[in-house]
Amino acid sequence: MIKTPEFNCPICFTKLQKTGNSLVCDNKHMFDYAKEGYVNLLPVQLKNSLQPGDDKNMVLARREFLLLGHYDFLRQALMKTLLALPHNNIIDLGCGEGYYTDFIQSQTPETNVYGVDISKSAVKYAAKRNKQVHYCVATNSHVPFPDDFSDLIVNVFAPLIGKECQRILTQQGRIISASPGAQHLIELKQYIYDTPELHNAATPPEGFELADIQQITQQVTLANPKDVENLLTMTPFGWKISEQNKQKLLSKLPFQLTLSFSLNQFVPITLV
Ligand SMILES: C[S@@+](CC[C@H](N)C(=O)[O-])C[C@H]1O[C@@H](n2cnc3c(N)ncnc32)[C@H](O)[C@@H]1O
Ligand SMILES: [Zn+2]
Repeated sequence: MIKTPEFNCPICFTKLQKTGNSLVCDNKHMFDYAKEGYVNLLPVQLKNSLQPGDDKNMVLARREFLLLGHYDFLRQALMKTLLALPHNNIIDLGCGEGYYTDFIQSQTPETNVYGVDISKSAVKYAAKRNKQVHYCVATNSHVPFPDDFSDLIVNVFAPLIGKECQRILTQQGRIISASPGAQHLIELKQYIYDTPELHNAATPPEGFELADIQQITQQVTLANPKDVENLLTMTPFGWKISEQNKQKLLSKLPFQLTLSFSLNQFVPITLV
């Protein structure tokens, strides 16, 4: 059974208690649940801009693109890896609009699953999609959880701060992190760079080391101009590609594309 969420106050770090439709700490800092079912735990002093994280356009583009199912093989591989590991209190850091978080919760209904993202637009969509996940707006550099709280952090293409991960993970805890594989989107990059560079392997966050890595690759066909637009909008390529090259690319549809990912398992470095 899903328990009430365990969040810490992002201002004074004491435990938050649920009171009506709000969370309140011992020092009376209060955070209301939004109607979509998420809570905003990003106080203004932790914001680095007015609307941090992915904006609504990026969120919508990612949502539409992911619904095509091209990234489903990554979601399945992530799930298989996760189920083989202890997974009390799974936290998806940088969860976006919840494509992976939603699936993880549906496959682990006995586990408390948390989704954290700095983008309010993203968390709003995520919370609408799945009411069983505990969603909050917060920053990965200051995550609103107690020490030694979770066995498993999930992280898909989002920034990670080692110190905070170390703090909230149990001693045996680990991070499963998805990052782009060397050849990821290489055909698309050929329309942007004269000599497209391959993606480098992800480096472990500070205080962690690589315990396992799995490479997965699949070819997909993009047939619809809207799918290409969405893919560009959800990645940094959207503002890197020239209008001329974009038109060239759109004239080449249907377009074969390589999707390639590394699934990295990071464990805390032990000093003994
Ligand atoms: C490339 S998207 C990935 C989203 C999701 N994991 C997915 O793959 O669909 C990166 C996400 O990280 C979030 N993000 C960026 N900086 C962050 C931070 N400091 N703390 C939490 N989330 C952050 C963005 O808002 C965005 O939703
Ligand atoms: Zn407080």
